[in-house]
Amino acid sequence: MRLGILISGRGSNFEAIANAISRRKLDAEIAIVICNRPNAGGLDFARERGIPMRVIESRGMEREAYDKLVIDELRTHEVDLVCLAGFMRLLSASFVHAFPNRVLNIHPSLLPAFPGLDAQRQALEYGVRITGCTVHVVDEFLDSGPILVQSAVPVLDTDTVETLSARILAQEHAIYPKAIQLMVERRITLQGRRAMIREDEVD
Ligand code: GRF
Repeated sequence: MRLGILISGRGSNFEAIANAISRRKLDAEIAIVICNRPNAGGLDFARERGIPMRVIESRGMEREAYDKLVIDELRTHEVDLVCLAGFMRLLSASFVHAFPNRVLNIHPSLLPAFPGLDAQRQALEYGVRITGCTVHVVDEFLDSGPILVQSAVPVLDTDTVETLSARILAQEHAIYPKAIQLMVERRITLQGRRAMIREDEVD
């Protein structure tokens, strides 16, 4: 399966996906990394590893026009599955329709709680005892598509946004490659909002 990864910043989830591929935990290939910001940290990692990448700056561009550029680039690289990894931009409905049920996102909360920005801060300020992260299929609304995989992270009394975010991030790095591998193995069937996941076949 050929992956297109969209990033805006640090790119640690992109790294986790690339590392899972190197360790043969994920049977896929990164066809292209697309970044909307020229100075994103994640670009250095792509350069070091020789992973094909392209900066398509989004500043000042209309959403539809921007998304068309990204769709064209993904198609040029024959991408099967698009993985948003800290891509800080809403996608248009036409983007979602160009890759139906083929766009995934990772979000640092147990959705549907705390969608949007600063999910870790939202969870801490709300006072939940358990938060976590979610890999979901992207639809045209924010952080709202069918949920594929979640991991729970307890909130400690001593937590700050930074310490909580770090523990959630470690779980993000674990579940995102796993969710992609489920797609690679075609083990996921959507029934409405519900993702049915076929168990591993045991000999
Ligand atoms: C992660 O917390 C992810 O859940 C959210 O944005 C952050 C991206 O981090 N969507 P990174 O760029 O992958 O390090």
